[in-house]
Amino acid sequence: MKPGNPHICEGANSSCVFSSKMREKHRSLFRRERGCFIVRVYISFDYDIERGKSMIRIQNVSKTFTGAQDTVHALQNVNIHVEKGDIFGIVGLSGAGKSTLVRCINRLEEPTQGTILVGGKDVTKLTDKELRTMRKKIGMIFQHFNLLSCRTVAGNIAYPMEIDGVSSRDREERMKELLFLVELEDKMNVYPAQLSGGQKQRVGIARALANHPDVLLCDEATSALDPKTTKAILKLLKQINEKLGLTIVIITHEMEVIKEICTKVAVMEGGEVVEQGWVADVFANPTHDTTKSFVQTVTHEVPAEFFSHQDPTKELLRLSFKGSCAKQPILSQMIRKFDVDANILLGGVDHLQQMIVGNLVVELSGEPDKIVKAVEFLKDHQVQCEVLRL
Ligand SMILES: Nc1ncnc2c1ncn2[C@@H]1O[C@H](COP(=O)(O)OP(=O)(O)O)[C@@H](O)[C@H]1O
Ligand SMILES: [Mg+2]
Repeated sequence: MKPGNPHICEGANSSCVFSSKMREKHRSLFRRERGCFIVRVYISFDYDIERGKSMIRIQNVSKTFTGAQDTVHALQNVNIHVEKGDIFGIVGLSGAGKSTLVRCINRLEEPTQGTILVGGKDVTKLTDKELRTMRKKIGMIFQHFNLLSCRTVAGNIAYPMEIDGVSSRDREERMKELLFLVELEDKMNVYPAQLSGGQKQRVGIARALANHPDVLLCDEATSALDPKTTKAILKLLKQINEKLGLTIVIITHEMEVIKEICTKVAVMEGGEVVEQGWVADVFANPTHDTTKSFVQTVTHEVPAEFFSHQDPTKELLRLSFKGSCAKQPILSQMIRKFDVDANILLGGVDHLQQMIVGNLVVELSGEPDKIVKAVEFLKDHQVQCEVLRL
């Protein structure tokens, strides 16, 4: 590369000239170094072509811990399919088996039964050498960051590359790219103790990406962070997913995290997956009780005083709708057509990864037979209706 010649890095052998106007417009992408402008350009066409291909396939996986005192069935016949480019959430209460499952993916735990394919390779059958190679392609971040306190930010990010035998020049270059990506360029020589929680997790993310992984596993990665920092970290993960085409698996006990970033979700309880699917579908129509209670943590509980006792002229309904039917004035059509009143008591409309999903609690009042017809009308228009009774 000739000095002074503007160029594109990150693996593309192209060069082009950027005007000062364009630099101004896309200021966040440009960085000045030794008199040159360095610009990060993310090329995503490979990722688009690959979208929909299988990345992780967990088939009939069980894991039993057998101790001197007791036996724990941490995973029971788990089946999950993660496609390339997914942000796949696994949600469950403490002890549901989430960490055990994610640790089986990179074989930090050995499954007792079943197969796990990562990029088409069965990780349960790899030799130690193959396993070491495969683990480079799976980055991981943790709730408590797991940074080396005796190393600076630069030292932490360089660590997996040192183990991998990357030359010091290449390490330095990659480390700077990653610091730029996670917006911590000014913290290069700082020790973890001098960083905030959000900054520590950014270092964790940079370190996990050091060896260009295909998959990033996040085990409760935002659980130690405040809500604002959580949002910032999730936004960064989303950017990384979109720009680098990285497949991300997120383990969490918070439905808010799933709502914020995930495209698909699996709900775990007692070592089993009790429900899974597209996040918009699961939010609009949760079927398992555990899923319902998780969804309610980010929608709303119905207070007891909303329930009218034995009044045939009133019906309390939870309405869920998604996609195109969320854009139509179905409620107002129903009110006009059946001469009923609809009082919206709770709820709202969310945009979940480009899909509109609505959840409303509505009290219908009017003549009993007209209420029945009004509910039928809603169902005919793809609105899920659940009659709420005490
Ligand atoms: N190494 C282990 N030995 C024995 N039991 C374990 C071990 N790891 C996890 N467990 C048990 O397996 C179950 C699932 O744990 P875990 O996967 O950590 O759940 P989660 O991440 O959803 O909180 C729990 O009952 C836990 O006590
Ligand atoms: Mg856990």
